[in-house]
Amino acid sequence: MKTYLVTGGAGFIGSNFIHYIFDVHNGDVKVINVDLLTYAGNLENLADLEGNVNYSFIKADICDRDTISKIFAQNDIDYVVHFAAESHVDRSIRDPEIFARTNVIGTLNMLDCARYAWEEGEGFKEGKRFLHVSTDEVYGSLTEEGTYFYETTPYDPHSPYSASKASSDFMVKAYVDTYHFPAVITNCSNNYGPYQFPEKLIPLIINNVLTGKKLPVYGDGKNVRDWLYVMDHAKAIDMVLEKGRIGEKYNVGGHNEKQNIEIVKIIIDTIKEMLPDDDPRKAHINYDLITYVEDRKGHDRRYAIAPDKIKKEIGWEPDTMFAEGIKLTIRWYFEHTEWMEHVTSGNYQKYYEEMYK
Ligand code: NAD
Ligand code: DAU
Repeated sequence: MKTYLVTGGAGFIGSNFIHYIFDVHNGDVKVINVDLLTYAGNLENLADLEGNVNYSFIKADICDRDTISKIFAQNDIDYVVHFAAESHVDRSIRDPEIFARTNVIGTLNMLDCARYAWEEGEGFKEGKRFLHVSTDEVYGSLTEEGTYFYETTPYDPHSPYSASKASSDFMVKAYVDTYHFPAVITNCSNNYGPYQFPEKLIPLIINNVLTGKKLPVYGDGKNVRDWLYVMDHAKAIDMVLEKGRIGEKYNVGGHNEKQNIEIVKIIIDTIKEMLPDDDPRKAHINYDLITYVEDRKGHDRRYAIAPDKIKKEIGWEPDTMFAEGIKLTIRWYFEHTEWMEHVTSGNYQKYYEEMYK
């Protein structure tokens, strides 16, 4: 049975990944979830795993050398899956420093603690893997239709967020090149699905439609993102851990490019279609809710991933097409109004205090 140290497991993708690996490996994995529980981390996302002897949670900062090295000393970790990060571009524009601290220094600390724990002779213990979860934003912005980000595309980050992720990728590469450290990197496109914090486009729009609020669209609404259902990202990470070559990076995306305004309209139409006819909210849901607002500073125009390498080398394919994924996501938010109330009111912190006091 493999032991995974998952950082940022209480966040959006981390919590979906933990659910995914327990499911796909029939519970035959051990997971240690290390998360600082910032505003973005919520243990309610993993409530179903409480009491599972193969799952444990440790509240810790990835920058804290003593605590992280103790976790390695006390557990025989096979895989590190490093999600923990500050992840929101708008926040990085307002407050860049925490992005450098968490995303760069935090990654360096994780790498170094793993290096000390896994060293053996001139190399590293057999079978150890450090998977660094990165983003397509490190490649910058595309302008022309039909062009894509490949693993060989030069890095050209623009926001403090993407610059911090690019720096962390280079730190991982430095550990591979210098120490032959057993790391791999995945660079994924925009994820959507359950448990996503409603600061990001899709959950924000779903929540605003359901509560009758305006739908803020930045600039002309024609910026393009390449959307992937979160469980397909989890599947890619699981497969890269097993089959990825050390020192390589793998782009992850499902060729699902859409302009932001298309996404907003799809959400409006889908919610209208899914709500029962006697739901009083239905009459007020229409395109008039769309409000064009000031553009994001330095707003990247278009992202589009070429996933050829992961498909060819690893055999990964996405399972969930957007038309289905968006319905699954909207249904999840319909059914989890309490979760939404907790995260938007800050009450989710109480859950931690009650469970772990
Ligand atoms: P998220 O913001 O939902 O979750 C981040 C998690 O990290 C939270 O649980 C938070 O509490 C934790 N965290 C933050 N600082 C920490 C610290 N100092 N120590 C320990 N834990 C800390 O983010 P997400 O959207 O789930 O993204 C996860 C990872 O995937 C990030 O590295 C992000 O760059 C990358 N990524 C995200 C997307 C996307 O579309 N969301 C796409 C590609 C890559
Ligand atoms: O591409 C991968 C990245 O995707 C991840 O690395 C990041 O962690 C993740 O946050 C996401 O970044 P984006 O900036 O692309 O996602 P966001 O949901 O913030 O915005 C998506 C698009 O929608 C972007 O063009 C900005 C626009 N937008 C966003 C918000 C929150 C709006 O028009 N209105 C909004 O209110």
